[in-house]
Amino acid sequence: MAARIDGGSGDELTGAYRRLNAAYQQTLRYAEDVRRLYQQVQRAIYQSLLGLANALEAKDAYTKGHSERVGAWSRGVAAALGLSPADIDMIGRAGLLHDIGKIGIPEAVLRKPGPLENEEWMVMRNHPLIGAQIVAPFDFFAAGALMIRHHHERGDGSGYPDGLVGDEIPIGSRIIAVADVYDALTSSRPYRAALPHATVIARLGEAAGRTLDEDAVVAFVDLIQTLSTTGPDVGARPVQSATGRPPLR
Ligand SMILES: [Fe+2]
Repeated sequence: MAARIDGGSGDELTGAYRRLNAAYQQTLRYAEDVRRLYQQVQRAIYQSLLGLANALEAKDAYTKGHSERVGAWSRGVAAALGLSPADIDMIGRAGLLHDIGKIGIPEAVLRKPGPLENEEWMVMRNHPLIGAQIVAPFDFFAAGALMIRHHHERGDGSGYPDGLVGDEIPIGSRIIAVADVYDALTSSRPYRAALPHATVIARLGEAAGRTLDEDAVVAFVDLIQTLSTTGPDVGARPVQSATGRPPLR
């Protein structure tokens, strides 16, 4: 009698265990599906945001490719500094989208063929805030939104919008700033020719540890010199437009 009861209980337990295990495996599969869908949604959102940024760049040959270059270089510098894969990815994406807020700047300011007046600078300086607001709804990109907000901060507190100093500035923003400055100075403007690579590298060296993060500058200079000697088109300037159209800033 005792053996029969034990046997029946064992069968029940075994059956219950199997059902439980099957339910657990099913839950794991659901979780994997949800994770995959979440990543797909994230990718779709990034692509949409990138489309928005590219639409802005496509209007002007002077800045064409700027976002892609800054994004790629920022990713490379983040990797060289030994940051985690997740941080590297976030910094690369923020680099791609850093100027997305220029969508909200009037073209009369964005394309002015010459230096900006004070009031125009006030308007232009809103673009990091506008950019951060555009990406704010996406929780998974919260760190990237901060990087966008602070990409014009400078280590000595002279930047904007918040006048942050040194390490107060997110590391991603400090990295993006170096790539952004290099790309801006090596680009032609109607009122200024593109500066030679060596001149810009020297300027970055002067700014290192003052307005720009020293480690980021060292890593960037290493990266750009490696790229310019190992790749035929990486790090090279795009062909400049001869139309004389004013640039996006
Ligand atoms: Fe910017």
